[in-house]
Amino acid sequence: MAKPVIYLDHAATSWPKPPAVIHAMIAAMADAGGNPGRSGHALSLHASEVIHDCRESLAELFAVTDPLRIAFTANATEALNLAIKGVLQPGDHVVFTSMEHNAVWRPLKALEARGVSLTMVQAGPDGIVAPSAMAQALQPNTKLVVVTHASNVNGAINDIATIGKLVRAHGALFLVDAAQTAGCLPIAVETMAIDLLAFPGHKGLFGPQGTGGLYIRPGLLLAPLREGGTGSLSHLSTMPEIAPDRYESGTPNTPGLAGLQAGVEQVLTEGIASLRARERQLVDQLWDGLAAFPGVTLHGPADSTLRTGIVALTVAGRDCEELAGILDQDFSIACRAGLSCAPLAHATLGTEVTGVLRLSLGASTTANDVEAVLTAFRVLLR
Ligand code: ALA
Repeated sequence: MAKPVIYLDHAATSWPKPPAVIHAMIAAMADAGGNPGRSGHALSLHASEVIHDCRESLAELFAVTDPLRIAFTANATEALNLAIKGVLQPGDHVVFTSMEHNAVWRPLKALEARGVSLTMVQAGPDGIVAPSAMAQALQPNTKLVVVTHASNVNGAINDIATIGKLVRAHGALFLVDAAQTAGCLPIAVETMAIDLLAFPGHKGLFGPQGTGGLYIRPGLLLAPLREGGTGSLSHLSTMPEIAPDRYESGTPNTPGLAGLQAGVEQVLTEGIASLRARERQLVDQLWDGLAAFPGVTLHGPADSTLRTGIVALTVAGRDCEELAGILDQDFSIACRAGLSCAPLAHATLGTEVTGVLRLSLGASTTANDVEAVLTAFRVLLR
């Protein structure tokens, strides 16, 4: 019989999804099968309610006053593209950090070719960017500042609230990539002066893949990523200005959003503080255990208050991808190795050639899982 999987790849996507998420998706397929916002019959209205409920739960989680300011997207990458391409015009300047994922770096490079100027602020060797360095990079024509809340490579957490205040005082817009933190760390958009918040549904919010969204501060009008039917103001040849319709043309993913709502409710019920306390206890156990092995280098802030549930490591003389393969094949431990779509972050950490072995913990991780990893390392590094 196959060994049960020890799943330590929550930074890529959380697994297993809570039963409530799966049940909500099945119920949406069975009972809310109409096209939301398009027709007036009961199945269509039910689908609209399912989607609105999801917006309301997310608004509660992120302290958003108007749920209609949350536009759904297929994932955090699409949300980041909508924010970046919806705001920036030729002649604008944008500031970002050296810990950004390709979901930020690649759209910015595409816009650079069309006349947007870029300034990258170097993070420290642990992956954390100094707010003062962000402030120094601001220019009179800085339109946007993009910062990852936490790195997908080593989990380093940035001081979003302090950076947000500096950016707002300067008059630029602040976009936060919450791919690794939505559902894991407290986020309150107004308190943190966040104008745009991009989040995935399928990681810390426990929703299915194919879900995510962008919070857009009231008063901001972005260029949409795509044009099409919205079920509203259909006589116009242009996209309506009303949110979220402007950003959501085409039939939405009702079953996915039903699942996402159930996931967000689970986060709200358990509470971020409790989820985080549990995660920190386990990630400390893993970090301390791995630190004791000769030849193992851990990349990131040692203090777990400054790190998410990620432990990134390299082992002297060993290839990370080969180690991940052995962990999978011989120990049924699922993790990720390599560059994790974030070459800038690896250049910052000095791991651009080797990559790292990334173990990422989540809500389903147990102390026994951590012990199993340490046992595997004892065998692997014998
Ligand atoms: N960006 C996700 C990761 O870090 C997929 O694995």
